[in-house]
Amino acid sequence: MVNSSKIPVIAIDGPSASGKGTVARLVAQRLGFHFLDSGALYRLVTLAAIKAGIELDEEAALARLVATLDVRFENDDVFSNQELVTDAIRAEQIGVGASQMAALPAVRTALLARQRAFRQPPGLVADGRDMGSVVFPDAALKIYLTADVEERARRRHKQLIEKGMDDNMTTLLQDIRARDERDRARAVAPLQKSDDASVLDTTRLTIDAAVEQVLARYAVAKRVP
Ligand code: C5P
Repeated sequence: MVNSSKIPVIAIDGPSASGKGTVARLVAQRLGFHFLDSGALYRLVTLAAIKAGIELDEEAALARLVATLDVRFENDDVFSNQELVTDAIRAEQIGVGASQMAALPAVRTALLARQRAFRQPPGLVADGRDMGSVVFPDAALKIYLTADVEERARRRHKQLIEKGMDDNMTTLLQDIRARDERDRARAVAPLQKSDDASVLDTTRLTIDAAVEQVLARYAVAKRVP
């Protein structure tokens, strides 16, 4: 058995719609590493809860749901109970619900082991809010990836339009601000830049430039024991 602490992790945390998912996925591809989109797990639990008629504040029932949740990531797709849910979990209402549910400690604890199971050779790139602070505190590199809130709303708007889910920019901006606020203010695993994370502001960076930045920082981090 491989000692999992020897498997390198790149943790990329940051606020909603900062582009961390896209950047993390590309970095994983470039390095031939596995990829964990932890937000997708929170979104999946939300979707499954709605389908099962569980309210998003029923902590114990939600934690039980996590334990039985059937999840499969395949290339860029996400399946739950054999059902393709890639687009369904991206709906803005699911993101808002996920951020409410994510404040519940029992849900976060129930998701811990599932997230850590993604740490497989030769390495993992994980994106979320608490990858560097809670889930993989021994990550080889921790990035706090961010961008101005208006730029993030524009990116999310474009992403939703591409998926055929139009949304109003003003509402989106409000949603993103409210989500940032909730993610930062919660008592458990709040979104925050940890001292050992390095900031990458992508407001004026292309995706490719952001990917190169992460790869360059990883190359440096690898050399430091
Ligand atoms: O990253 P994404 O927007 O898909 O995440 C949806 C929600 O799930 C976030 O707003 C956040 O509240 C929650 N989340 C979390 N911890 C993570 C990943 C996501 O609390 N590691």
